[in-house]
Amino acid sequence: MDNKRKNFTVPEEELEKQKEYSRLVSLVLSSRFPSSAPKAFVHTYGCQGNVSDGEKIKGILCSLGYELTDSVEDADLVLYNTCAIREHAQDRVFGNVGALKKYKTAKPDMIIALCGCMMQQEYVAERIKNSFRYVDLVFGTHVLHKLPEFLHRCLCSGKRVFDLSGGDGNIVEGLPLHRDGAFKAWIPIMYGCNNFCSYCVVPYVRGRERSRSFELIVEEARQLVAAGYKELTLLGQNVNSYNKDLEEKYRFPALLSAINDIEGDFIIRFMTSHPRDCTKELLETMARCKKVAKHLHLPVQSGNDRVLREMNRHYDREKYLGLIKYAYELMPELSITSDIIVGFPGETYEEFCDTLSLLKEVNYTSLFTFIFSPRPGTKAASMPDEVEKKEKSRWFSELTALQEEIASKRTAAMKGRSYRVLVEERNENSGLLSARTEGNVIIEFEGEDCLIGSFAKVEVTEPKTWVLKGRFIELG
Ligand code: 5AD
Ligand code: SF4
Repeated sequence: MDNKRKNFTVPEEELEKQKEYSRLVSLVLSSRFPSSAPKAFVHTYGCQGNVSDGEKIKGILCSLGYELTDSVEDADLVLYNTCAIREHAQDRVFGNVGALKKYKTAKPDMIIALCGCMMQQEYVAERIKNSFRYVDLVFGTHVLHKLPEFLHRCLCSGKRVFDLSGGDGNIVEGLPLHRDGAFKAWIPIMYGCNNFCSYCVVPYVRGRERSRSFELIVEEARQLVAAGYKELTLLGQNVNSYNKDLEEKYRFPALLSAINDIEGDFIIRFMTSHPRDCTKELLETMARCKKVAKHLHLPVQSGNDRVLREMNRHYDREKYLGLIKYAYELMPELSITSDIIVGFPGETYEEFCDTLSLLKEVNYTSLFTFIFSPRPGTKAASMPDEVEKKEKSRWFSELTALQEEIASKRTAAMKGRSYRVLVEERNENSGLLSARTEGNVIIEFEGEDCLIGSFAKVEVTEPKTWVLKGRFIELG
């Protein structure tokens, strides 16, 4: 079914070459660390897509013989998998890389590596090259599978290695994976983005959209369910355009249905949906598929049509609200969340107020809210932007206060009702078990550790705005 399309899959020979490098690196490491395994500290910033890449990085490092550690001080290799989405995210990385200097001075053999979206931007790589000379290895988003080769060069030549190969991006199958969770798993279904929203750096650093094979995804899901995983999250920048160029039977709704048909007790989540490609069919599929969580993350960014046009979003308020209306008709209990950008260049207060009114109309469960951050190379970065930072912060506070009001009304209505939740962990601060409803609301309650990783029925006793308190009723 794939023969009409550009083939993004990395050829087998390349992977064989990396296996050979892996063998060599393992040999070097076992001679340099004869008594105990070398330790790797890996930290991932940013979105779930990056977290999923982080699992591949850790998988590769473990296959080379590294043991993972939570302590930078103990590490023989420190790797930061970085995010470029906003300036603040980048500043944090620069700050943390700066803090590594003292460790490298104390332990000169330590390898310091940086990868991910931020490194895919030339000006960042240049800055690392010139101002952070103790960084040994820098590589971009398209060559993650070459980590064994890069490490071989670092370990054997002692020279700095920079690889920022660009292009449209690729797909690499069959890499070793070190999953962070024992019952929640990420499954990337596509990589990259074609949308070029005018504010966003992602299409520049992640390349063009490319979808993984339908069969491989379903098989991965099947294996995860067989291994006891209870929650699968399908990942992509724009999952609704999964296999857009193929027949309907291979597109996103079909993929959801196929995973829903896998036998077993588990839930399916997905993110992110772009309103431009969100179809009635997708909403109908969500409603029909019992295992698909009734939670839709549908980033609107703004409630004003002029701003949406300037953002290059390809939908307007009416279309968005139409989708929401249809979704609530099909799934009255649906929980909807969104991303909002405040202070897009040229946005006026009146236009921002359209976002506030949209929040009320949609009745969101929660929001991810951001003040516009100019990203070098994007169209919006060169648009005139006259509203002062202070003013944007005021709008931002108004937005979050309104959402808080909306969310607390929603959660107040949950009091006395019981929900099926997946128990995730013990919250160290409250000492309570923390669980998540299908709609992505967190409920905490008293209970034993053995409940972690199971579904349970919990009654909401004390609704607070973001985290509810509840009472355990029963398993299942
Ligand atoms: N400034 C502020 N927020 C941004 N986002 C993406 N790019 C920017 C930017 N330049 C937000 C969008 C997107 C989310 C992942 O991050 O809301 O949906
Ligand atoms: Fe960025 Fe828009 Fe693509 Fe999302 S859809 S990654 S906001 S360009």
